[in-house]
Amino acid sequence: MRITLHIWRQRNANDKGRMVRYEVPNVNEHMSFLEMLDVLNEDLVAKGEDPVAFDHDCREGICGMCGAMVNGVAHGPLPGTTLCQLHMRHFKDGDELYVEPWRARAFPVVRDLVVNRSAFDRIIAAGGFISASTGSAPDGNAILVPKENADRAMDAAACIGCGACVAMCPNASASLFMAAKISHLGLLPQGQAERDQRVVAMVAQANAELFGSCTNVGECEAVCPKDIKLEVIARMNRDFLAANLGGR
Ligand code: SF4
Ligand code: FES
Repeated sequence: MRITLHIWRQRNANDKGRMVRYEVPNVNEHMSFLEMLDVLNEDLVAKGEDPVAFDHDCREGICGMCGAMVNGVAHGPLPGTTLCQLHMRHFKDGDELYVEPWRARAFPVVRDLVVNRSAFDRIIAAGGFISASTGSAPDGNAILVPKENADRAMDAAACIGCGACVAMCPNASASLFMAAKISHLGLLPQGQAERDQRVVAMVAQANAELFGSCTNVGECEAVCPKDIKLEVIARMNRDFLAANLGGR
């Protein structure tokens, strides 16, 4: 396959940035999108040019490092898939692809397709944890968890913190990410002690980071590679109201 790429090149946060056109001939359909970028980069390095900077780590859809807009869709056109798991067989010979970094004020561009997502870390540090005494592991069934809650908590825990939900949201809201963490912990007995302070602190931190508010557009759910559902946002909103009005 021959693919034409238009890639956002930006040297640093202060650079204006621009789209640059590249031709990648001989793309193997079994390559992942990132492997296709590797091939492009090898060619650029051989020509003495700067390779395209992009984030990646596991390349198996579990770490949350990768991500870019491909033709305006976060992580590209395949639902429920990270960019590293998107294979070139989902494109056609001769396709022209526009590849850009996540666009959100809270995610400033570091270089090319790499953005700074430490705002997510600060939201987690504000309340996305439980406080528990360390020691030996408790017995498996010492704290019983209803099956339905365990399943829902597990689904919410699948969030890998990639930031696609923010990038796709017209408000650049971090609600799906934040609500996934709040649901994950709020559905389990271990998360109850700090449930109220968690939601209040995390929402306050998201506001301080200048993420937008959720207006139920649903683009986040559509592009989430881990199929996190909008229902987690409803649960976060209920927790937020209960924490502020008192009583659940
Ligand atoms: S909710 Fe989905 S899109 Fe958002 S950070 Fe988590 S995994 Fe990524
Ligand atoms: S590189 Fe880890 S999820 Fe894509």
